[in-house]
Amino acid sequence: MMAVWIVLTIAVGLLDVASGSAIAADSCVECHQRAETTAAFPAWRKDQFAHWHESAHGRVGVTCDKCHRGNPNRSNKWLAHWGVKASLDPESPTHYKNVPETCGACHEAVYRQFANTLHFKNLKTDRLAPTCTTCHGFEMDVGSVSPSQIALKCTMCHNPEQGATPEVATMARHAVERIAATRDAIAAAQSAIAAARAQGRDPKEAEALLGEAEKRLKGTGALWHSFYLGGFEQRLDGAETLARDATAAAQGGRAHP
Ligand code: HEC
Ligand code: HEC
Ligand code: HEC
Ligand code: HEC
Ligand code: HEC
Repeated sequence: MMAVWIVLTIAVGLLDVASGSAIAADSCVECHQRAETTAAFPAWRKDQFAHWHESAHGRVGVTCDKCHRGNPNRSNKWLAHWGVKASLDPESPTHYKNVPETCGACHEAVYRQFANTLHFKNLKTDRLAPTCTTCHGFEMDVGSVSPSQIALKCTMCHNPEQGATPEVATMARHAVERIAATRDAIAAAQSAIAAARAQGRDPKEAEALLGEAEKRLKGTGALWHSFYLGGFEQRLDGAETLARDATAAAQGGRAHP
């Protein structure tokens, strides 16, 4: 048995060499971006390569195998796919019920919040519920998603026909608008501080205010996944005001008269 395995491994290893690219840097990416591979995916069964490539994961190098398993050091398709299972297979790490754990391996804080929700409970008991990729398709880069796009995601299920509370879509929209406004205010404070420094002023007070605003914003991304939108908004309270105060302080005005 062992001998057969070794012979097989060597044989396929030779195939690897024969096919040109002995051991690619990342065979999944290498092969999935080729035209022949792409052609193997009819429209209804589309290859995720383009989506991945443009996503936050593609930019930072969270590669295919991190979610799909397989061996990215093998350029032979058969060996590279060893352990890769289609997402329809309940054993696959990309099966919708397993997705929270797959993502949670890296996004622990988000996972911890999500695991406490009715969404999670429903998901695990075969009832209607979103999984991570329901909201985070590869097109969904956080920060570039509009509040109305997010509300649309909620409306898929939170509508009168499906029976789940329809008002959450409006709440979600509002919450995400608040996050965007806070991020904008923080960015404005950062440029005001840079400008103050360029003019030779000491923006120490502004920096302290900005630091506090950033601290309040930090963590809201994970907290969002508790879907306890009231608590979420409480956390954001004041962060935007603090950022505006920081801008005023950097521009020479008094933040707190
Ligand atoms: C030499 C080319 C090649 C390499 C290397 C390769 N793939 Fe593929 N992959 C394909 C092709 C072609 C398909 C289309 C289905 C088929 O022909 O098996 C595919 C299909 C898939 C699928 C869909 C499976 C399904 O059943 O629907 C996934 C997921 C996948 N590959 C992930 C990976 C991962 C992860 C790696 C690296 C560990 C990888 N691939 C390496 C060529 C490759
Ligand atoms: C962050 C995790 C993650 C990464 C990274 C990732 N995928 Fe996927 N992929 C998924 C999930 C989850 C699905 C299942 C469909 C869905 O939920 O969107 C999927 C679906 C697919 C499919 C459709 C077939 C199926 O099994 O559903 C292919 C093909 C695929 N991915 C290939 C790739 C390739 C190639 C890469 C790298 C270029 C890659 N994926 C990177 C998570 C990921
Ligand atoms: C191997 C680790 C890893 C896995 C697995 C993983 N991610 Fe990520 N993810 C990262 C890294 C690293 C980043 C970029 C840095 C950051 O923003 O945290 C990122 C970024 C993101 C972002 C963008 C965050 C932002 O601030 O713009 C989202 C959304 C995301 N991941 C969702 C998912 C989902 C959904 C899954 C599962 C399908 C998943 N991730 C699986 C490591 C991972
Ligand atoms: C794929 C379907 C689906 C999607 C998408 C979805 N939900 Fe839900 N959600 C449900 C179901 C089903 C329930 C449980 C309803 C019940 O049993 O009362 C629920 C419950 C909730 C609850 C009550 C939670 C609790 O623990 O009591 C909140 C809040 C919520 N969802 C917020 C949202 C928000 C915000 C969005 C959009 C960002 C969203 N949901 C997207 C299906 C979904
Ligand atoms: C019902 C929709 C929905 C579901 C389900 C969902 N997310 Fe999110 N997620 C969002 C929204 C909306 C944001 C953006 C909040 C913001 O703008 O900071 C977000 C933000 C994030 C971020 C960025 C966090 C940060 O600190 O800025 C990551 C990472 C992430 N989600 C991963 C996941 C993972 C992993 C899962 C599954 C365990 C998941 N999400 C499930 C809607 C969802």
